[in-house]
Amino acid sequence: MHPGESHDLLVGFDTSDDAAVYRLGDQAVLLTVDFFTPMVDDPYDFGRITAANSLSDIYAMGGRPLTAMNLLAMPCSLPAEVTAEVLRGGADKVREAGAIIVGGHTIDDKEPKYGLSVMGVCDPDKVVRNVGAKPGDLLVLTKRIGVGILNTAIKQGLETEESQREVIESMAHLNRDAAEAMLEIGVCAATDITGFGLAGHVREMALGSGCACEIELAQVPVWPKVVEYAEVGVRPGRTADVVSFLDPFVNWGPAGFTWKGILADPQTSGGLLMAVPPRKVDALVVALAARGESAAVVGRMVEGEAGTLRVV
Ligand code: CO
Ligand code: CO
Repeated sequence: MHPGESHDLLVGFDTSDDAAVYRLGDQAVLLTVDFFTPMVDDPYDFGRITAANSLSDIYAMGGRPLTAMNLLAMPCSLPAEVTAEVLRGGADKVREAGAIIVGGHTIDDKEPKYGLSVMGVCDPDKVVRNVGAKPGDLLVLTKRIGVGILNTAIKQGLETEESQREVIESMAHLNRDAAEAMLEIGVCAATDITGFGLAGHVREMALGSGCACEIELAQVPVWPKVVEYAEVGVRPGRTADVVSFLDPFVNWGPAGFTWKGILADPQTSGGLLMAVPPRKVDALVVALAARGESAAVVGRMVEGEAGTLRVV
């Protein structure tokens, strides 16, 4: 469905936006769904991280989540306590977000999966799209990147969930306060960093906005040990697909094997990426810091062929 097909559909799925937006009276209703296979072993953490990631699409649009529905697939061989822990993790996160779980659906499946379909609301005039950035806008990123690489290191036994506790807490951290700072300052465009990595989501924003973009390698915040792991090829299987998808649009510049792997690293429950005019960037960084959110200016939108990315 495209916005033109219904007067009240403000954002459909033709621009890869984070959520659909439907006008209902003087409110805009935001609708989104996400589900995942486990990225961590602990079922409670899996539930929390998945819920934070699902809620993030509402925050990335400038919305407030109201209700959520559980989507759960579990092998019947798994003990009932495991399922209960996943759901408890999800419910705790939804409650922290000030929303409520109102239902859901469970099926029997060999591979566990969990996610949420979330409904939120927003002032129709304040919806933040992933398009609308202009050449000259600076790109501000909240959470550090590299969690796909570190989750792979855990799976390979190179790290433990305890050694990576801070990273797991970052994935479980809501983008709510970051979104509040974003709304306070006002930005041109925003999205959250997920499966296409920093490079993929920056490029998508540039494409939708009709401009080109630059990522400044030296400014990209990464978790400790990510570079070491990326150098020796510790990375999720999906990274190679993201890199080859991006290849035709990206001038990788100084980014060789290691940094391509980091810039294309699929993030679980990554931070917000916001495009702001230079005159607002300091205020945005201050507003984020005041809420305990980290912020890095990782690049900019530039004149050029829409959707092309240059790493400098
Ligand atoms: Co998203
Ligand atoms: Co999503």
